[in-house]
Amino acid sequence: MAINRPKGTQDHLPDGSPKLSLDTRASAFAFVRETARRVLERAGAQFTDTPLFEEAELVQRGVGGSTDIVRKEMFTVYYFGDHGGFILRPEGTAGLVRSYLQNGLKQLPAPLKLWTHGPMFRAENVQKGRLRQFHQVDYEVLGSADALVDAEAIALMTEVVQALGVRKVKVKLGSIGDPEDREAYNAYLRELFTPHLEALSDDSKDRLGRNPMRILDSKSAQDQALIAELGVRPMLDFLGEGARTHFVQVRRHLDAWGVNYEVDPSIVRGLDYYRRTAWELHHEGVGAKSALGGGGRYDGLAQELGSKEPVPGIGWAFGIERLLLALEAEGVPLPASPGPLLYVAAMDEANVGYAATLARSVRALARAEFAYRAMKPAAAFRDAERRGARFVALIGSQEVEQDSLSLKDLQTGQQVQVPTRDLQGFLGGYLGANPLTPDAPSQPTQENL
Ligand code: HAM
Repeated sequence: MAINRPKGTQDHLPDGSPKLSLDTRASAFAFVRETARRVLERAGAQFTDTPLFEEAELVQRGVGGSTDIVRKEMFTVYYFGDHGGFILRPEGTAGLVRSYLQNGLKQLPAPLKLWTHGPMFRAENVQKGRLRQFHQVDYEVLGSADALVDAEAIALMTEVVQALGVRKVKVKLGSIGDPEDREAYNAYLRELFTPHLEALSDDSKDRLGRNPMRILDSKSAQDQALIAELGVRPMLDFLGEGARTHFVQVRRHLDAWGVNYEVDPSIVRGLDYYRRTAWELHHEGVGAKSALGGGGRYDGLAQELGSKEPVPGIGWAFGIERLLLALEAEGVPLPASPGPLLYVAAMDEANVGYAATLARSVRALARAEFAYRAMKPAAAFRDAERRGARFVALIGSQEVEQDSLSLKDLQTGQQVQVPTRDLQGFLGGYLGANPLTPDAPSQPTQENL
């Protein structure tokens, strides 16, 4: 029997594949990553990477023992003779902060801006936009508690979305206060929900003891009905002086920059490490319950992971698959995948090697392909067209003897005669005059800049 990929995972496929959708198109992932790279690196973020598996305790302590991620969704990694103490990372922040502490990155100029991308793993119920292996673009800033850093992080998130060409995005901004504010809020929630214990879902009965705020985030209709009925006061009402002032400052910066957002007084994030500023980006193409991305400040995380000194931090992550669903919903055109700039085919077996040498000789400059066997002209042009080639050179004994090529431009239909020794110069000149064509695959088209 054939073996299929595990549920909740996707293959990323080359362009032209049958059954291709935008969120399985490898070149679409590359487009998102490259667009994010451009925006984030211009703001000073440096690329960094951490292992796909980490000590389970990192996630238990970092993400938090009361979260769904830790309680229900962790993939445990076993290897022969091992105690099973590793997990596949469900998110990037805990690993990046561990890496920052372990590698002494504190010595680099602060605030230190890092970014990464890659697969994350959560054993969730699979549905549209909710996978077990999904991909994030992740941005983190360490070493500053300044509200200006929060505002810049949120603004950068909107800039990535804009650079991708996605328009209908809502930023929902809130604050979940300092730990003592949350304690006060949790006490309020406990008092409010305890008399209605029977009306809560089993999961939420459990949450009431561990972390009542998580009830507000429940996906159960039963819980949501009770929340509406009780008229629960939002977290924002419980902010202490410090968190309140910080929130006002963040908003002031965002207002000054014209970043659109709406205050969501009851924002609850699904991870425990957050403090103060917390936000999510939503898009109607992805569904109301699923965010395009989210983030927040996590000033206590480094100490949770063993740092003696506090290291303030803040960051966010987008789900790349969800960004692609948003692009699809808005019909945003993606840059076409460029085919080879040059395609060379020999018309007789004796010259197949010569054709290969020619194609290989221009690869420092551009993508070039060749036919692996002799072809008739009609078949060679058909093959070149299927591959999306721009220029085609057919090689017969005449071309070899005269050291001259006849290049056909498949876009204009024009034919040019080029001495073989000038091939590189000709293609170089073409690229110089057409900078947004084949050799720049990650450039977005003009309309989605
Ligand atoms: P998160 O809200 O858990 O935050 O995930 C961020 C984004 O990852 C979500 O908004 C969503 O787009 C995507 N995502 C999450 N789970 C799935 C899934 N099962 N399938 C598809 N996409 C998914 C974090 O992960 C934090 N580390 C963000 C952060 C960085 N906070 C501070 N720094």
